[in-house]
Amino acid sequence: MQERLQQLQKDVLTSLQKAKDLKSLQNVRVEILGKKGSLTEVMKGMRDLSAEERPVIGNLVNNLKKEFENSFLSRQLQLQQQDIAAKLASEKIDVTLPGRRTASGSLHPVTLVTDEVVEIFSRLGFAVAEGPEIEQDFYNFEALNIPKDHPARDMQDTFYISDDRVLRTHTSPVQIRTMLKHKPPIRVIAPGTVYRRDSDLTHSPMFHQVEGFLVDSHVTFGDLKGILTHFLNEFFGDGYSVRFRPSFFPFTEPSAEVDIECVICGGKGCRVCGKTGWLEILGCGMIDPAVFESVNYDADKFSGFAFGMGLERMAMLKYGVNDLRLFFENDLRFLKQF
Ligand code: PHE
Repeated sequence: MQERLQQLQKDVLTSLQKAKDLKSLQNVRVEILGKKGSLTEVMKGMRDLSAEERPVIGNLVNNLKKEFENSFLSRQLQLQQQDIAAKLASEKIDVTLPGRRTASGSLHPVTLVTDEVVEIFSRLGFAVAEGPEIEQDFYNFEALNIPKDHPARDMQDTFYISDDRVLRTHTSPVQIRTMLKHKPPIRVIAPGTVYRRDSDLTHSPMFHQVEGFLVDSHVTFGDLKGILTHFLNEFFGDGYSVRFRPSFFPFTEPSAEVDIECVICGGKGCRVCGKTGWLEILGCGMIDPAVFESVNYDADKFSGFAFGMGLERMAMLKYGVNDLRLFFENDLRFLKQF
């Protein structure tokens, strides 16, 4: 019996050492102390022992049990620490590594220019208005004194959606929408996307305009000149000459085109200004009485001016961009420069 116990003691200690994880350690425990465990079996056999043998063997068994429990606990602790160490090693993060930067975006140059134009006019008391890009014939043409047979209505220029609906060809319909809703005095600036059937090096079928208009009593062409000259000085910087050339628009009378001294060559003549020294920037004029009539304004009581400009062109001149297509290709190498 004693020999058996000695053997058992050896077995117990080796199987505890052999247990590679907490689960197999539990199995070892069952093998030793479970209902059918080897030590349990020994204890069951004790009733067959003689009266002298029983206390001796009992003592040995108790010691063995205690030893097992102690070794079990220390092995358990060891395995638990091993687990934690492994976990720490595998989940280790190096907090001294530099973080990954999130790339911050920037505003599109056309957006930058739109914001700046709107801001300059906001300071002059203009309020922002918007209109739909799919526009009714009435707002885009009819109410703006563009009769049915006017060349601007030609299929060459206009994207028709139906007989009555177009992709707006300019932001001027916002004039009509605003004037039908509000009585003078009004001062409005209206940026937006416009569409024309035009596509080449200097034309895109989709581009952006800003419309501005002011209606009040006693508004004169002098007011128009003053405000636009102020605007151009703010936008391009002081010191460029500005000139107003007679022109024609169905919805303004008189009409003018505004040129600024070439901001690229300073008026000497270059490729951008076509050697003229001047850049064409804006269309403008005094709102035609026929337009007032279609919005039920009394043309004897009120007068006003309107102007419109292309924002891509403004952006090209301001930032020295020489190819219109760059604005629409979304090449990050280009966009990141702004
Ligand atoms: N709507 C005109 C265009 O698209 C610009 C313009 C607006 C001219 C207002 C005069 C007055 O060319």
